[in-house]
Amino acid sequence: MSEVVDKIRAFVLEKCEQHKQNPEFGFYDYWNDHIKRVVYHAVTLANQRGADAEVVELAALLHDVSMPSEYGERGEHHIYSAEMAVMLLSEYNYPNIDLVRKCVFNHPGRNAHLRNTLEETCISDADALAHFDRIPSLFKLAFSILNMSVEDGREYVKERLYGDYYGLSEPLRTNFKPDFEALMQALFVD
Ligand SMILES: [Fe+2]
Repeated sequence: MSEVVDKIRAFVLEKCEQHKQNPEFGFYDYWNDHIKRVVYHAVTLANQRGADAEVVELAALLHDVSMPSEYGERGEHHIYSAEMAVMLLSEYNYPNIDLVRKCVFNHPGRNAHLRNTLEETCISDADALAHFDRIPSLFKLAFSILNMSVEDGREYVKERLYGDYYGLSEPLRTNFKPDFEALMQALFVD
């Protein structure tokens, strides 16, 4: 493991630890409830697809960094996280800063049309798969951070998961289809 990955992981862990103490954000454990799983899927996909595993690991660690850092608006977290990623990686003279920045900036579905590298797709796919690993934390976000009603929270989580599934790249989406259908059937009976 490279030194820059170690330093960035330590930075993100520290921000997550601080954020976990904040009642305003429902004591959300960003590391264990999300980032750890994104890193796992992103590195696995990078190795399967022949992407740059170090770029992908850094981007997975940093893709949401503005949120546990409580910097900038949540809805624009890809912009603030990309800004932080550039600033942090510049301190270590990291050679592939622009590719990490693109992975972070283009991870939301609305920027899917801007992705043009394997590394960017590893991050967007890993982000979506990580949500399926931590469905309870999506409900927690709906109820204790966004303060939604039971019905609104249920629809919110359902829509998020549909968006995540349809945002997966192929052939991952086709391979994941049986798990997706079983989960949605178990969770949302109409
Ligand atoms: Fe994420």
